[in-house]
Amino acid sequence: MSYSPSSPILCHSPRVTVIGAGKVGSTLAQRIAEKNLADVVLLDIVEGMPQGLALDLMEARGIELHHRQITGTNSYADTANSDVVVITAGFPRKPGMSRDDLLMMNAKIVVESANRAIAHSPNAIYIVVTNPLDVMTYLAWQATGLPRDRIMGMAGVLDSARFQTFIAMELGVCPTDVNAMVLGSHGDLMVPLPRYSTVNGIPITELMDESRIERLVERTRNGGAEVVALMKTGSAFFAPASSTCVMVESILLNQSRLLPVAAYLEGEYGLKDIFIGVPCHLGARGIERVLELSLTDTESSALHTSAQAIRKTIDKIQDIFSIGVG
Ligand code: APR
Repeated sequence: MSYSPSSPILCHSPRVTVIGAGKVGSTLAQRIAEKNLADVVLLDIVEGMPQGLALDLMEARGIELHHRQITGTNSYADTANSDVVVITAGFPRKPGMSRDDLLMMNAKIVVESANRAIAHSPNAIYIVVTNPLDVMTYLAWQATGLPRDRIMGMAGVLDSARFQTFIAMELGVCPTDVNAMVLGSHGDLMVPLPRYSTVNGIPITELMDESRIERLVERTRNGGAEVVALMKTGSAFFAPASSTCVMVESILLNQSRLLPVAAYLEGEYGLKDIFIGVPCHLGARGIERVLELSLTDTESSALHTSAQAIRKTIDKIQDIFSIGVG
């Protein structure tokens, strides 16, 4: 068939909905559009705000050299038929607040957002970003009834990026030469894995002694709180947005990247009925494979301790939730 300008061009422009147009959501929208990955629908409960942000982002397109549509809305009808839905709606941490303090406030928001989004985008892949991450992802999974390959939480990429940064700073090497791996919950009980963290293939255990590594591990565990303490109002959003964007990209471009994400486990790592950070292949079908690393007894027990804390929080919220949100 020959090309003529009047021929209808059959192409599907991928569409990503970002629920919550706050710091993380709006930065993510910017990253997705500027990387030319997809059209973006930014949804927020606040009237006018997502529309204003979308217009602002649209007005930068000629300068940033992309043609993606960014739409701001307060209506879920505008999110219909999205390929990926990212939930960032909720409140961020304030200084001195743990992620669990956010639990009650954010649970209701996430379940409502997930329920309303799935009605319009039943075939999308869902990524939850709202904290406390592992529990929010579990609640969104319950609310949507999605199969486990199509819903996940963003945390491990961010925690690993922080570990990567601290390793690079400590050794004075380029961060892109560092590969870091952090499993477990997104919180104080996360499980950074020095054995599986390398500088161009060299395990960091060959490059630093235990006490130096332990210092970096602790800083990684405290990575979110360190930013919160400095910022005083709000929490990190640049690195969280970049981390989420990497996951969106791997899905939309079917890259099958191996990334640590909060995935639903059905026996892997000896864990069941829980969302927790583990390495997964992310591609067009979502989580295409959960990779089971061989862990030492210490690493495995740290992962199980992390899982127990998540389970406890899930149990805590379950009763209240089944009563409170329909
Ligand atoms: N529906 C849609 N949007 C909502 C709703 C709701 N029911 N409730 C709140 N929001 C919106 C707020 O209006 C706000 O614009 O969610 C947005 C949250 O943005 P910020 O307060 O800037 O928070 P942010 O820094 O983006 O963090 C969002 O991501 O990393 C996590 O811990 C963080 O849970 C927090 C989330």
